[in-house]
Amino acid sequence: MKTSIHLENKITSKPSRYGLKYHIKTFGCQMNEHDSEKIAGMFQKDGMIKSNEIDNSDVLFINTCTIRENADDKLYGTLGQLKKWKDENPNRKLLVGGCAAQKDKYLVRERAPWVDVVLGTHNTNDIINLLNQSEDWGPVTEILEETTNIESETSPVRESSINAFVTIQIGCNNSCTFCIVPSVRGVEISRRPSDIVNEIERLSHEGVKEITLLGQNVNSYGRDLMINNKRRPYFTELLYKIHDIEGIERIRFTSPHPKDFKEETLIAVSELPKVVNQIHIPLQSGSNKILSAMHRGYNQKRFIEKIDMIKSIITDASISTDIIVGFPGESHIDFEETMKVVNYAEFDLIYMFKFSPRPGTVASDYQDKFVKKDIIDDRFMSLKNRQTEISEFRYARFVGSTQKMLIEKPSKKDERILTGRIEGGHIVNLESNKYGIGDLVNVKIVDSTPFFLKATA
Ligand code: SAH
Ligand code: SF4
Ligand code: F3S
Repeated sequence: MKTSIHLENKITSKPSRYGLKYHIKTFGCQMNEHDSEKIAGMFQKDGMIKSNEIDNSDVLFINTCTIRENADDKLYGTLGQLKKWKDENPNRKLLVGGCAAQKDKYLVRERAPWVDVVLGTHNTNDIINLLNQSEDWGPVTEILEETTNIESETSPVRESSINAFVTIQIGCNNSCTFCIVPSVRGVEISRRPSDIVNEIERLSHEGVKEITLLGQNVNSYGRDLMINNKRRPYFTELLYKIHDIEGIERIRFTSPHPKDFKEETLIAVSELPKVVNQIHIPLQSGSNKILSAMHRGYNQKRFIEKIDMIKSIITDASISTDIIVGFPGESHIDFEETMKVVNYAEFDLIYMFKFSPRPGTVASDYQDKFVKKDIIDDRFMSLKNRQTEISEFRYARFVGSTQKMLIEKPSKKDERILTGRIEGGHIVNLESNKYGIGDLVNVKIVDSTPFFLKATA
């Protein structure tokens, strides 16, 4: 069995898998979702057709995540179930990539020898070659330590024709002590502004209305490009450039890091009508002691100053955040500090996580300070309950007002209802037969819950 192969011959332009069906199962964040779209592009260039079901597919790609422990458990559970799928027809090809594969390397093959190709986050562009190699020589594992080519030769096949993810930066140069991302995604590399603008111009021609710029730390975008010989961020300038592209109606971005958030970026957000008034600014904890142990580079006071700055510059900003409950050493008082910030900021939405030790991260060594599971569960519940109250009145503020909604798709539960989002990112259910997918329309908000809005047109 050959386990690691260096690729001499690059992707052949001749499609070789005409008519075969592929299916992609994606775990994790928007970066992974977008990587899967890039891989779908490569599969289709190779002649394959998308299948919505695993059971009737010939080639199956599992794009993995490893941000928390349960993400890992899910992977090995899924691979266990797929042994049967593979046994049913040995001609089927099973490929595993993404962050957990990058972390576990040969362990994936050890625990699931029936996998044909294991690849990491840095060589997704090589997937067709690796698939070819596995057909010639048997199972292949190739995990690289860094990305050498950030631009792909193939266009992504996007899940939506209305809103599109656009990568502006990969990797992360921060060292948050809980986080595994830098070790599985590598150092921060920015795409060239012209490549980004060209891609968005193409998307606009194809009818895309909304774009989401993706990076782990978007407001440090461009530092590595040394534009005008300066090692400084270029994110604000990029927003102005993208705003000029005709046809694009809405621009979102995620995630900015609180420590690098600049006033000039917020001024751009307020000046540029297409850039939405939604800001995601991850708090993680409100306690100075915990923030310092997390290596976040800001304290509670600085975070609150950023919140005040957002609220004073952007009219009716919708602010969301990420919070980790139960970081090692978190006392009741530390948790109360987090609640203090939550009560002050009045976020529209919080993505809440229970601390999960990740191998190789600094915080995973703080075992003597781990918080007991039942305490974490209790704190998580009280945060969740309080945030539901806050979201309830934050969402209710829209009732009676007119908002611009981008219609994205019919509701899964009821075909007569259209779903989409208003500028602040809040989900709206619209009862109307006047409009279609991709329309940007004024709707009247008639009701709200802490999780979505209801509208008529
Ligand atoms: N680059 C982004 C975060 C990407 S990970 C940023 O800095 O905002 C998304 C979220 O997962 C993080 O913001 C954090 O809240 C959560 N997270 C990351 N590692 C975690 C861990 N070990 N345990 C629990 N939550 C974690
Ligand atoms: Fe992880 Fe911190 Fe980088 Fe975000 S900024 S990806 S939390 S290391
Ligand atoms: Fe995203 Fe999970 Fe990787 S959150 S960057 S897919 S570890």
